[in-house]
Amino acid sequence: MLYRPHRRRIDNEGSSSYDASPMSLDDLCESLRNCQQCRLASGRTQVVFGSGNPDASIMFVGEAPGFHEDKQGVPFVGAAGKLLTELLESVGLSRSQIYIANVIKCRPPQNRDPAPDEVETCKPFLFQQIQLIKPHMVCSMGNFATQTLLERKVGITKVHGQPFQLSEFRLFPLFHPAAALHNDNLLPLLREDFQKLKRLLDAMVAPPQKPAVPASDQPVQMDLF
Ligand code: URA
Repeated sequence: MLYRPHRRRIDNEGSSSYDASPMSLDDLCESLRNCQQCRLASGRTQVVFGSGNPDASIMFVGEAPGFHEDKQGVPFVGAAGKLLTELLESVGLSRSQIYIANVIKCRPPQNRDPAPDEVETCKPFLFQQIQLIKPHMVCSMGNFATQTLLERKVGITKVHGQPFQLSEFRLFPLFHPAAALHNDNLLPLLREDFQKLKRLLDAMVAPPQKPAVPASDQPVQMDLF
């Protein structure tokens, strides 16, 4: 639950009110069901809010819904989604353990890149989702998600597989699975990054411990005199 005492709240129609009630992920989802804040509203079948475990400690963030996601209302259900599911399973994760969302919640026409103003309009909802779910790790898939979450213009080719400690979570950028489907050279790199992710997650669950040293084995300062 996110408590937002006396915060100004703006609804989808643009009118504002003061709200002292806790907001849940379901509330946020419901508040966006009929979102009209950008031009994508007119071409979508439905808003694709996100799916998975609302208490997940790991979240995956993509770019925007495509054709199948728009029809089904669920992120990553097309070809890229099948690859994502396979990659998750390769490191022992299931989709029900994680949470998946996109930067943009509505399908851009012909799957074009999201426009900068569409990203600006929609990204606060992604940040709210992250605030509500409170994951320890967020995996950004592709340039749009990585740049949105890092809040700077970096290329995914440079930063993939490198964790960034941000104030609220660790960011782990990955190539977008759709890019790996179109470029055979990227798939082995994406698989390697998933193995690296697994090692990072394992280390977060069980941080390395120094073996206890018995007092008698402790190094002693040699007396020179
Ligand atoms: N690509 C994305 O970035 N998101 C989806 O939900 C599907 C494909």
